[in-house]
Amino acid sequence: MDMKVLVVGGGGREHAITRALSCNSGVRIFSVMARKNPGIARLAERVLLEKETNIPEIIQFATENAVDVAVIGPEAPLEAGIVDHLEAAGIPSLGPTRAAARLETDKAFCRRLMERHEIAGCPDYRVFHDPEEARQFIETYDGDLAIKPIGLTGGKGVRIMGEHVDTAGAVEYAREIGGDVVLEERLIGEEFTLQAFVDGEHLVPMPLVQDHKRAYEGDVGPNTGGMGSYSLPDHMLPFVARSDYEKALRIMEDTVAAMQAEGTPYRGILYGQFMNTRDGPKVIEFNARFGDPEAMNVLSLLETDFSEIIRHVTEGDLSPSHVRFAHKATVCKYLVPEGYPEAPMTHEPLAIGDYGDALLYYANVEERDGTLYTQTSRTLAFVGRGETLEEAEEIAEKAAASVSGRVFHRKDIGTRAVLERRCRHMREIA
Ligand code: AMP
Ligand code: GLY
Repeated sequence: MDMKVLVVGGGGREHAITRALSCNSGVRIFSVMARKNPGIARLAERVLLEKETNIPEIIQFATENAVDVAVIGPEAPLEAGIVDHLEAAGIPSLGPTRAAARLETDKAFCRRLMERHEIAGCPDYRVFHDPEEARQFIETYDGDLAIKPIGLTGGKGVRIMGEHVDTAGAVEYAREIGGDVVLEERLIGEEFTLQAFVDGEHLVPMPLVQDHKRAYEGDVGPNTGGMGSYSLPDHMLPFVARSDYEKALRIMEDTVAAMQAEGTPYRGILYGQFMNTRDGPKVIEFNARFGDPEAMNVLSLLETDFSEIIRHVTEGDLSPSHVRFAHKATVCKYLVPEGYPEAPMTHEPLAIGDYGDALLYYANVEERDGTLYTQTSRTLAFVGRGETLEEAEEIAEKAAASVSGRVFHRKDIGTRAVLERRCRHMREIA
């Protein structure tokens, strides 16, 4: 039977969601996006070009087309309460309600919840609403801190002492953002992403992924939305011991149980960003959605029917038997405009060459008269899949190198050399 799915969002993540859904020929896609993503548009039966937070317009589009379920890609519509409104209109969603999405949208809420329920992996933290009090704390704290605005920042709002700022710079930054900050201990280790499908009670994990936040090769340069990511055939990462993986999974399960206990059950994708430290995994943050780029890694491996998973999530009877991922490696490489993230070269034409067996995911790109043009954000991504990391990397790298225009990508993502550096770092801090 046909299933009509509303997909909200127009980036690489949502292209991956749409592609995975369209593997089932019975799924009909209705897309809402602020800007036309050519990849999504080609797979969708109808497209509404509209701000993803314009809820009345979206609800009207959804009801007019009698969609059965919705998938919410980005965090902004979640924060605006889109799921609450869709549910009121009788449309169940893969995505949390506004109250449950606070796990991502309110960093102070997230830390306090972890503390209240004695959930492991919470770094030392303090919440401030006054720049003067934040200053005193920063100046007297013994060690480096991470300075985080309480609300949403598009993944670019965190400053780390000893990395981006010194003590004076940290004080200045806390003032600049108005004093509403979470200050937490600077964690040292290796980052990894654990995403899971959650139906309010049950949690089914996806393969581990590692993203690359820094703009340039060797992990230098400004922070970005994520330049690319990789995963391995065993769905693990060599610098995350099995026991640490189990701890991370337990933290996610405990968080889901805490949300249920507090009367705001969490349904949707739970994204755990962890720092694997010498004391085990600590939570850097939770997101209430798939990661971008991490969605492209995992959804490119999904072997079971995505629409069925969504049905089980919304009906609250999700089990591991509904979710299977191919045991392959993936490497995702984003092409971004030259100058990104600070001064991206926009409206520059680009041409894609022979991209072989890679999957192509469009992101922030404009298609005009058959030509693609850069916009301000990440342009498009390639995912290579292979029996080994080397194979996947070669596929992704060849595809990325086939693109001509004023764009760049990180050649080092998914290489053995980077993986070995991560493992060495983990051994050094142990
Ligand atoms: P976020 O916007 O919370 O994803 O943070 C962006 C980046 O800041 C993360 O990917 C980490 O690299 C870094 N970060 C955030 N919190 C901490 C912390 N407590 N210690 C060290 N690094 C952090
Ligand atoms: N890749 C990081 C994020 O989606 O927030």
